[in-house]
Amino acid sequence: MKVLSIIGARPQFIKEAIVGEALREAGIEEILVNTGQHYDANMSDVFIEGLSIKKPDYNLGVGSGTHAFQTATTMMRLEEIFQTEKPDVVLVYGDTNATIAGALVAAKLKIPVAHVEAGLRQHPKDMPEEINRVVTDHISSLLFCPTQKAVDNLGKEGITEGVHFVGDVMYDLFLKMETQLDSTGNISRFGLKEKEYILSTLHRDFNTDNPERLRSILSALNDISKDIPVVLPMHPRTKKAIEMHGFEKLTSHIHLVEPLPYHEMMSLLFGSKIAITDSGGLQKEAYFAGVTALVMMPDTAWIELVEDGWNLLVDAERERIIDLAFRNDFPRRETGKGLFGYGKTGEQIATLIILSF
Ligand code: UD1
Repeated sequence: MKVLSIIGARPQFIKEAIVGEALREAGIEEILVNTGQHYDANMSDVFIEGLSIKKPDYNLGVGSGTHAFQTATTMMRLEEIFQTEKPDVVLVYGDTNATIAGALVAAKLKIPVAHVEAGLRQHPKDMPEEINRVVTDHISSLLFCPTQKAVDNLGKEGITEGVHFVGDVMYDLFLKMETQLDSTGNISRFGLKEKEYILSTLHRDFNTDNPERLRSILSALNDISKDIPVVLPMHPRTKKAIEMHGFEKLTSHIHLVEPLPYHEMMSLLFGSKIAITDSGGLQKEAYFAGVTALVMMPDTAWIELVEDGWNLLVDAERERIIDLAFRNDFPRRETGKGLFGYGKTGEQIATLIILSF
């Protein structure tokens, strides 16, 4: 049994940390391909090394570019590798351009595709990640769903075969790392006090590439940070957008830092009063850490967390973001038990791969 896994962007390095280990423990041979979509050391190497991911067998060095460039270049390079390696199954993660590129090439070569984090759906339908999810799910043979809701979403589109609710690999990783997290070091490094700061991230194209939305969000965060520090590890896309629109003044009070490694991010999250984010990963991790998250999106793939009061959708609404940032009580309901599985998702994925091929 030979599995070829494709990673390329930050969230995929995190997911591979769990699945790669589970495959190894199950005795499955894994060929790892890093497309190189994320290439800055603090967006890639710190995760690959920090999470003890195996050294990739292939580095494609695709880098940045338009969606067509990134996807097409990845596809051409992957095709050669698939023909050489002849894997039994190609494993793709999440919703990035590396995901859709891997799935398309494999499907056309009649190699079964296994999709980790299948079935997520959200508006706007034209966001690149949503397009990648929908297409990947429709050409996958094995669909590993992180929630029951994801299974239901697939059902509505007529996808029922090969669908498994396995839980969320990011929950596995969180449970594994939780005991090693120490927020005090990072908090003092940034001059912060426990529960007296806000952790924020911002990188979605519909927020960064729309000047009105970007202005509204930055001005909210900047105003909040006059009273309570807002720490914002800055994605390179956001940095470029701020420079392009001349919005530097709107960030003058925000505590801007470089992108952070996983364990530093999680320990800062634990110590924060709330999180304000447009990251799919961080809104879920906030729930794992018992922290409320304001979600700067019109909709979310993790709607269960909104229904139970853990996450609040604020879109790019300045006043709502400010108002909720200063609130101290957030009525939250217990979510259903095992909403994201029980921390054994990696093992289940490995077992199902063995049983399916
Ligand atoms: C990608 C994923 C998204 C994921 C996110 C995590 C797609 C369509 N989107 O979005 O699902 O949530 O990764 O970060 O694949 N850049 C650098 N250095 C880097 C990486 C990026 O400078 O190491 C800059 C480049 O200007 C690039 C821009 O950031 O054009 C955007 O990067 P890209 O990989 O295209 O998309 P992300 O926004 O990171």
